[in-house]
Amino acid sequence: MTIAVVPGSFDPITAGHIDIIKRAAEIYDEVVVGIVVNPNKRCLFSLDARVDMVKEAIGWTDKIRVDAFDGLLVEFVRMHDARVIIRGLRAVSDFEHEFQMAQLNRRLDPEVETIFVMASPEYAYLSSSIVKEIARYGGNINGLVPPNVEKLLRDALA
Ligand code: PNS
Repeated sequence: MTIAVVPGSFDPITAGHIDIIKRAAEIYDEVVVGIVVNPNKRCLFSLDARVDMVKEAIGWTDKIRVDAFDGLLVEFVRMHDARVIIRGLRAVSDFEHEFQMAQLNRRLDPEVETIFVMASPEYAYLSSSIVKEIARYGGNINGLVPPNVEKLLRDALA
């Protein structure tokens, strides 16, 4: 049984994240969505709010679990008996940072493998930051985030 972790800040979860999580769930036996407590990043949504919104956005399935983590990703991966980290790649601009993280994670735990999944073309331009910016200025974010997040964003930025 192969378990994969899809880690991220998910502040908020977008349609692009959901696409990657669901595609990962088609390949691996189980997927754990790991929501990071990132002290270096000021998040719009609290950790609890991010966990709840991800759970609601994904809906019920016994293949996908959601959990928060504070600390090293490779330790979270081990804690869940996983061996694989899944990261979505959108453009070449993602590559440098992702390459660095993958190499460092490999150094921290050589048995944990990072697998990259190419973003679907319709989400290749999408990021949590850009969605927050559009929402902040009252733009239309329909289809860019799941419906529950659309409402949460409107409330948070009202
Ligand atoms: O959605 P993001 O913000 O791009 O996700 C970044 C994430 C969660 C993958 C990264 O910040 C992370 O792995 N944080 C945990 C701390 C850690 O393990 N750092 C070393 C990785 S090289």
